[in-house]
Amino acid sequence: MAKPKKRYICTECGSVSHRWQGQCADCGQWNTLEEERAETTFSARHDLSKGGRAIAFEALDAPTQPLERQSTGLAEFDRALGGGVVPGSAILMGGEPGIGKSTLLLQASAAISRKGGDVVYVSGEEATGQVRLRAGRLGLADAPIRLAAATSVRDILTTLGDDPPPAMLVVDSIQTMHSDMIEGAPGTVSQVRASAFELIRYAKENGVALVLVGHVTKDGNIAGPRVLEHMVDVVMSFEGERSHQYRILRALKNRFGAVDEIGVFAMEGQGLEEVANPSMLFLSGREEPVAGSAVFPALEGTRPVLVEIQALIVRLQSGATPRRAVVGWDSGRLAMLLAVLESRCGLNFSSAEVYLNVAGGYRLSDPAADLAVAAALVSALSDKPLPLRSIWFGEVSLSGEIRPVAHAGLRLREAAKLGFDRACGPAEGGQDVPKLRYSAVSGLTGLVDRVMASA
Ligand SMILES: Nc1ncnc2c1ncn2[C@@H]1O[C@H](COP(=O)(O)OP(=O)(O)OP(=O)(O)O)[C@@H](O)[C@H]1O
Ligand SMILES: [Mg+2]
Repeated sequence: MAKPKKRYICTECGSVSHRWQGQCADCGQWNTLEEERAETTFSARHDLSKGGRAIAFEALDAPTQPLERQSTGLAEFDRALGGGVVPGSAILMGGEPGIGKSTLLLQASAAISRKGGDVVYVSGEEATGQVRLRAGRLGLADAPIRLAAATSVRDILTTLGDDPPPAMLVVDSIQTMHSDMIEGAPGTVSQVRASAFELIRYAKENGVALVLVGHVTKDGNIAGPRVLEHMVDVVMSFEGERSHQYRILRALKNRFGAVDEIGVFAMEGQGLEEVANPSMLFLSGREEPVAGSAVFPALEGTRPVLVEIQALIVRLQSGATPRRAVVGWDSGRLAMLLAVLESRCGLNFSSAEVYLNVAGGYRLSDPAADLAVAAALVSALSDKPLPLRSIWFGEVSLSGEIRPVAHAGLRLREAAKLGFDRACGPAEGGQDVPKLRYSAVSGLTGLVDRVMASA
């Protein structure tokens, strides 16, 4: 029989190569290739005349059980999951160190167990004493969770094998788990994959909702092989600036629901508090109008979130190359917008430094923010504040036209609800709503005229 070939797997992108090399040929990272021990040797030359079993085909409309979902007890968590956890599914929860993954899962576990669900919480990272201290701080010490500190997948599954399966099994984290089916230290690609495979198989066979905590690498991806993300049903990411109080829970992949909803939490001393109405979260509560500030009604899934965009223009006396710095928005898009403002409206930014900031640590990717950014830039350049209770949205094309955006009505209604009384946007799609007057802006030149005219 042929000798099994060695395979090397990149810990960053999961690509496979048959030869070790210092740099991954696919993602370009250095020192990320690790040898994988082949578990079985696979031969493609089956003897097809015996050994196989016939598989049954089914019709798509054959009767199926409707999807039942179980609430996590945290409405924001349920929302991000698309309505709760599905029994027999595997969820991977990624997030930066210290962002609050263990806190969130302990709170969810406590809520489920208090409602009578059996929850097993296995910590491979912290001693049980540490988890108990956290539970005490969060006021959850009386929740009937079954807690253990363990890192061996065989021990965990042997222990669970004797009891009726729990409703939920939390494993914190998959990088600390060790499977004795194969060699290697915990955290290596093959170990992470093998441990996850065994745990997921147990969860699927027994209808257990499995939550795996996953570390993230410095560029924000979940550490370990990319295949881990393929193996689970749901990939969640818990994000936020550690210096800010707000945390956003987002589904990156969901086999049981949409991925456009977010859950918003605030990290308090008592743990994570749910923020049911986050639309005002990223607005600075200022009372006086200032030049260079515009409010944009962003959308997170079906939820409007109003964010403040701030621009600062500094004229340079010397001939030094002016800086452009952007936080929370795409710098390429800023360069494009500045070019359109220069060439279509005759404004001059070439000798000025331009700083753009999206307040509150929020990141914008919606092209509808173009008009709000343009309004902030023109307002900063002309030193004319925009009206205090106004919002701006619309996509700017290279010709300087304002293009329509999705869900204009939703954005307008939310702004009106929060006390905004004026909106500027594209000619199509927008209209007055109760207490809010809508004005269509005809192109970027129209915007410049409007800003210059505002007192
Ligand atoms: N006594 C405290 N009062 C207020 N906040 C606290 C307190 N102790 C911890 N925290 C908050 O909880 C965070 C740690 O939460 P948690 O341990 O759940 O994070 P994690 O994502 O599980 O981290 P890791 O990746 O290290 O496991 C801290 O960064 C801090 O913001
Ligand atoms: Mg933790």
